[in-house]
Amino acid sequence: MTESIIHLKENNYYIEDVPLDKLCQSFGTPSYIYSKKSIVDSFNKLDKAFNNYERLICFAVKANPNIAILNVLANLGAGFDIVSGGELKRVIAAKGDTKKVVFSGIGKSIDEISLALKHEILAFNVESEAELYRIQDIAKSMGKTANISIRVNPDVDAKTHPYISTGLKDNKFGVDEKKAIDLYKVAKEMDSIIIKGVDCHIGSQITEIGPFTDAISKLLKMIDTLTLMGIDIDHLDIGGGIGINYDDEKIFNFDEYASAISRLFAKRKFKIIFEPGRAIVGKAGILLSKIEYIKKGQSKNFAVIDAAMNDLMRPSLYNAHHEIVNTSNCNEKKDTYDIVGPVCETGDFLGKNRKLSISPNNILAILDVGAYGMSMSSNYNSRTRPTELLIDGNKVFEIKKREVFDDLIRYESLPSV
Ligand code: LLP
Repeated sequence: MTESIIHLKENNYYIEDVPLDKLCQSFGTPSYIYSKKSIVDSFNKLDKAFNNYERLICFAVKANPNIAILNVLANLGAGFDIVSGGELKRVIAAKGDTKKVVFSGIGKSIDEISLALKHEILAFNVESEAELYRIQDIAKSMGKTANISIRVNPDVDAKTHPYISTGLKDNKFGVDEKKAIDLYKVAKEMDSIIIKGVDCHIGSQITEIGPFTDAISKLLKMIDTLTLMGIDIDHLDIGGGIGINYDDEKIFNFDEYASAISRLFAKRKFKIIFEPGRAIVGKAGILLSKIEYIKKGQSKNFAVIDAAMNDLMRPSLYNAHHEIVNTSNCNEKKDTYDIVGPVCETGDFLGKNRKLSISPNNILAILDVGAYGMSMSSNYNSRTRPTELLIDGNKVFEIKKREVFDDLIRYESLPSV
């Protein structure tokens, strides 16, 4: 069982200093609730592990883009890894520093590149030759220079779910080392391009250090070749991907990761950039949901709850495991249930074969949903999305209001006759 951010005190579950039943009474369910302390602690732990390096942690906005969460991280000195103009605008709205932004993604549009140039971001992580030419052209036309890294696809197996593996040669991301060297040569001759670094990101929810060190070794070799060619870099961006323990995975050790990297770096000196998402916010969030019905099927028991796959997609999409805790007082008798939502799809489940003691109206906490929870939610089945709360000690901040029906049809209209 994973360690969790909720704890029992006198028969009540709390997040930080706030009882969960109070949050349900005031804000209803389903609700995403985040612990600020958990976010700050994870950030500081990673940062401290690398305190012998010049470093910048660029939080991967896609993991949890709520501007209040980004603001917490900006205040800790974080930079940001973005993959769209929308994410850049969120960083700005959150009072983040655009000069600490790296821009990843294979489909950067002209508008997105122009916006990023206007805000003088730290680096574009360039994913193709065509993108390099596009950035050069736009920067030139704006009378600006663009800082770039080439995203290298080192062809290492991250040993993670195939949908979230990105560093294999069959994946659509980055370019191979040989192509990267060719692109650096081209970039060196471009008058509006400044070579800043080398970038890679090999996948997500990686629980072993090996895939990272395999990738970094390959990149260091490549950097040595670049140095011989007279191309120097300021930073190595080693991407995100650090996994967390959802179930019985072992806890990723930041200190071991730091010493492994230090052995590989040997005497080489440049700044390290990280792009973690999940490792910073994953453990910090829970989803509270009420049990609507208990349904005894022919061969299974179902607990039908008021959250569904549209609120938390990870179980349906990746068969991902999230621990589920009944936070209401309950008797001891446990049964085995599939925890399912109201959406009309067989794939709409939040947990399978869970041994729980539950009754209607009990409140379940689905754990470890701070990353890729709300950020991947949708309005499928015309469901309004949950509220989001940030807890700081005994303070509760409603950082996103629950959607209402009018939000769903705001941009729709009837055909005029
Ligand atoms: N940098 C780049 C370029 C990325 O594509 C990603 C994630 C990250 C950093 C952050 O990765 P993290 O540290 O969070 O592993 N929806 C999936 C995860 C998709 C990750 C996509 N890229 C899930 O729920 O598991």
